[in-house]
Amino acid sequence: MKILGIESSADETVASVVDDGQILLSNTVASSIEFTKAYGGIVPEIAARSHIESIIPVIEEALKTAKTSWDHIDAIAVTKGPGLIGSLLIGVMTARSLAIAKNKPLHGINHVEAHVYANFLTKTTLPGYQLPAEPPLFPMLALIVSGGHTQLVLFKNHGDYKILGQTRDDAVGEAFDKVAKILGLPYPGGPSIATAAKSGDPNGLELPIARLSNPYDFSFSGLKTAVLRASQALVGADYTLPSSRLPERLSETQKSLVAASFQSTAVRTLVDSLNRALKEFGPKSVVIAGGVAANQELRRQLDATLPLKPIYTDIKLCTDNGAMIAAAAYYRRQIDRPADAYSLGVFSGLQM
Ligand code: KG4
Ligand code: ZN
Repeated sequence: MKILGIESSADETVASVVDDGQILLSNTVASSIEFTKAYGGIVPEIAARSHIESIIPVIEEALKTAKTSWDHIDAIAVTKGPGLIGSLLIGVMTARSLAIAKNKPLHGINHVEAHVYANFLTKTTLPGYQLPAEPPLFPMLALIVSGGHTQLVLFKNHGDYKILGQTRDDAVGEAFDKVAKILGLPYPGGPSIATAAKSGDPNGLELPIARLSNPYDFSFSGLKTAVLRASQALVGADYTLPSSRLPERLSETQKSLVAASFQSTAVRTLVDSLNRALKEFGPKSVVIAGGVAANQELRRQLDATLPLKPIYTDIKLCTDNGAMIAAAAYYRRQIDRPADAYSLGVFSGLQM
């Protein structure tokens, strides 16, 4: 069962072929990250235009790398949301056209749910991937930490899950990106903060962890504001100093201090929540998914405190990719009927 997975919800156009929901045969990426870096964030219009240019070559390359052809593709899966409407439309319209032209079943996939399925890929024909040895067992606790989402989800089985908590404001990846901007570090903020944090003291600044009525909900906007206030204080200014003036006034040592303290606090928020859920729900496996799962400090704190060894996949499959869409579709098609290729729509938010 070979599924072609197409992902275009943000600024990367990605296509992958996955066999039987677990064997990664290709993962081809085209990205408009140069523009994203130049503007310090995704510009939706530029991202959508870049998807138009890349999507067909990316799909062709994904089939070629997988050493397969349309005759041997059994289904097409595409991200239907959440994400940027213009970006999603290019992926969905391309997938719909291909499903009609090539006469293949089509599956519209929830991007956040799909991040979890990256952890079900256990084999590959590609070099340079470190994958989990075994797929996760149910009940499974999943922490999804990306630039757009922060959710703690308890899966009883495929497609049968309960969202225990989620962010009330910024996603954790978004907080990394915003703090990087305050410090004048390049986009994407996650890796930049992680690098700057290496030479800083994680306990150097005392930063707050939000306490919410649902202990599994998250909030990162207060932490981001606390970082801003602490940075202004470090350069001897008050809250009236515009954040755009901070990068030139903070020394490299001060930037490392702020980065390390912020990273350690953000990570501790996630780790505390996961440990609490583990005690309450006693899952058989824990998976960490999404771009922030690449964070080494998160992996270190989890390995040090969790009674169960968490499952992570290769860093290339933590960030957005087509393989997670194809893997999710393999299990979804056992529950849901295929989508109508003449009408499948897109969703910017989580209401799918
Ligand atoms: O999953 P992803 O590729 O896209 C979304 O669905 O949002 O996640 C991107 C996010 C960005 O906010 C980026 O800063 C963050 O993941 N990220 C990291 C690291 N690598 C990427 N955050 C912390 N540490 C990292 N090493
Ligand atoms: Zn994502």
